[in-house]
Amino acid sequence: MAIQIALFNHKGGVSKTTTVFNLGWMLASKGKKVIIVDCDPQCNLTGMVLGFKDSDEFEAIYQAEGVRNIRDGLAPAFESRPVPIEAVTCEEINGQPNMILLPGHIGLAEYEVTLGIAQELSGSLVTLQNLPGSIFHLFNLTAKKYNADYLLVDMSPSLGPINQNLLMTSDFFLIPMAPDYFSVMATNSLASIFPKWRAWAEQAKTNPLLRNATYPFPAKSPKFMGTIVQKYRLREGKTPSAAFQKWINEIENGVKNKLIPALKKSDMLLPDANYTNANITLCEPIIQMSDFNSLIALSQKHKAPIFSLTDAQLEATGIVLERTKKSMRQFEELYSDGADKIIHLAENV
Ligand SMILES: Nc1ncnc2c1ncn2[C@@H]1O[C@H](COP(=O)(O)OP(=O)(O)O)[C@@H](O)[C@H]1O
Ligand SMILES: [Mg+2]
Repeated sequence: MAIQIALFNHKGGVSKTTTVFNLGWMLASKGKKVIIVDCDPQCNLTGMVLGFKDSDEFEAIYQAEGVRNIRDGLAPAFESRPVPIEAVTCEEINGQPNMILLPGHIGLAEYEVTLGIAQELSGSLVTLQNLPGSIFHLFNLTAKKYNADYLLVDMSPSLGPINQNLLMTSDFFLIPMAPDYFSVMATNSLASIFPKWRAWAEQAKTNPLLRNATYPFPAKSPKFMGTIVQKYRLREGKTPSAAFQKWINEIENGVKNKLIPALKKSDMLLPDANYTNANITLCEPIIQMSDFNSLIALSQKHKAPIFSLTDAQLEATGIVLERTKKSMRQFEELYSDGADKIIHLAENV
């Protein structure tokens, strides 16, 4: 069965989408078959991967034959259609045969309220009992169809019922953050939301109506992999500048003193030895990335990861090219180390 990893933080702009794409690509280049899943109704991941600039281009894949995006995949359950959920036909990704995209849809937001009601009532309304397990069922069928090893789930910045469902039906979760005040605040609210979500999922897992539904609610026990801290500015190209370092320290304090104790209490951590063996120090970021600077625009322009742009795509020569290539190799190493830790943790449970 594919390993499902959710990238979650209800704060926006912390590099969730960018990380799903780049980390997914890195896992794929290490030989893993990866599906990146766009569960944000804003569809940034879909737009980025497929290079869409305007809504006409989205319309073209939405109108195409068959089940081609997350909303159409879930429609049989959410719109009570007399047909079963079937696997999504995913989009290929130029230059990376081991990675495919399960496209997003703005209309996914329309299912939020219904799913919220279904999860509150936890199956006591027979007409809604198939909804809490339907997202996992769709992912599982799609992963089987493509023989996937990993599903990386990009999420919207919210604490809504869809995210609650996605997180609690994943195997693991990563928390991307930015070194700023808002990420410190977010750590606090995550520490209080996870125990609530966990309590809900425990009840949903044992509820006979949900367990025996057409799309059973899966018996998952999601575990924390770590944080990913992005976009700090470099001082003399090495360590984070003082202002950013202050926020990085505050984040680490919050993770250590609030988040980790809350996760431990909610059984959302693996045994300590699993982290040690994967070379992960829990309260430190699993990946810490500086600002991509000019590489981010080139990466988006060429729909290629930060770490594997060609000389031609780098649009530079001489010393500038050499400097850019050097920083590209540093990002490659960071993503590669991060991917190794993630693979080790995920595959040695
Ligand atoms: N390490 C980084 N350096 C520079 N820009 C980044 C970095 N990571 C992400 N970005 C940019 O920051 C913005 C927010 O990133 P995004 O991945 O969309 O975050 P989220 O999905 O959490 O909202 C985007 O414009 C993205 O291109
Ligand atoms: Mg995003």
